Amino acid sequence: MAKQEGSSFLVTILVILFLSSIATAAQYNVLNYGATPAGITDSTEAFLAAWTQACGSINPATVYVPTGRFFLRNVVFQGPCKNNAILFRIDGTLVAPSDYRVIGNAGNWLFFQYVNGVTVSGGVLDGQGPALWACKASGKDCPSGATSLGFSNSNNIEISGLISLNSQMFHVVINGCQNVKVQGVTVSASGHSPNTDGIHVQLSSGVTILNSRIRTGDDCISIGAGTTNLWIENAACGPGHGISIGSLGKDLQEPGVQNVTVKSVTFTGTQNGLRIKSWGRPSSGFARKILFQHAIMINVQNPIVIDQNYCPDNKNCPGQESGVKISDVTYQDIHGTSATEMAVNFDCSNKNPCTGIKLEDVKLTYKNQPADASCTNADGTASGFVQPSSCL
Ligand SMILES: *[C@@H]1O[C@H](CO)[C@@H](O)[C@H](O)[C@H]1NC(C)=O
Repeated sequence: MAKQEGSSFLVTILVILFLSSIATAAQYNVLNYGATPAGITDSTEAFLAAWTQACGSINPATVYVPTGRFFLRNVVFQGPCKNNAILFRIDGTLVAPSDYRVIGNAGNWLFFQYVNGVTVSGGVLDGQGPALWACKASGKDCPSGATSLGFSNSNNIEISGLISLNSQMFHVVINGCQNVKVQGVTVSASGHSPNTDGIHVQLSSGVTILNSRIRTGDDCISIGAGTTNLWIENAACGPGHGISIGSLGKDLQEPGVQNVTVKSVTFTGTQNGLRIKSWGRPSSGFARKILFQHAIMINVQNPIVIDQNYCPDNKNCPGQESGVKISDVTYQDIHGTSATEMAVNFDCSNKNPCTGIKLEDVKLTYKNQPADASCTNADGTASGFVQPSSCL
């Protein structure tokens, strides 16, 4: 190779290297912004600084959290960002302050809002909840607690391989979001921990929750008003309060829940299995086009339940009827054991009876005997083998 050719060859290589470096994701390692992996000092500012770089990048960007324990106060990862492909890759454990008062009134511990195209991959979140749960159990005046991971008003979100431990309040909340994929998430908290819902979805469309394992003290997955096109598949729930649509109808004006599929879920020792719940008071809310398919119940207290007379402490609703209209709900291939005699209980609104309830291939036993079913204001059909025999 002539000398001339050699140097232009080198220039070409350098140009290619330069171009490929801007085309690949920039990576922002929190250690380079002062985070300490030994769990001694507060790393909040370092995480925020790395986020600010990633969010301000015009190219895809990665925030990288290596192994170690990182202490974080409540932090908001704020969008909009200059790119729509940010990967938050966590190999380590993020630890909430041991004093629950620090984040207890913040609403959320780790909170993303107005972002588009953010993936949180891996990581352990330790909410350090037990001290707050103990405070609540003692009857003292305590903060309500923070959700460990919240996404609000965001689109094209993915959460995968995350482990959430001992949240103060809810573990994961999806609020006001479109197109969210949650997969391979593990939630773990005591069966006696208060208000520690595993995954809560509300005012969101196109949320998919796959392959999750949830052990907690409240609902494994709770589905709030304004949830549409939700798909839940392959989950294990228990201990916990089951999968719940609702409570709906708390507010007079409320968007409905529509097109929800809950498929292949195993409930073990839970308080409820598949539940729809509404306040016993006027509301514009509704729940329709719901499919519960292929569920296994193992010693579940209320395997199939619709409760439209929810009125905690009998405050602000005694004697009123739920305005929430429940229709087109299918229970298909639901098998297993009930921990109480009443395995199927449809307690619907007198003013808005449930319609289009379908039971297909349901077999629930109590102490090796057919369990019981109860229907109030519920209309629908049964087909295939149905035990307890349908009261519809
Ligand atoms: C119902 O939701 C699923 C996603 O869970 C979606 O694929 C489907 O198109 C929706 N159906 C309707 C009629 O919107």
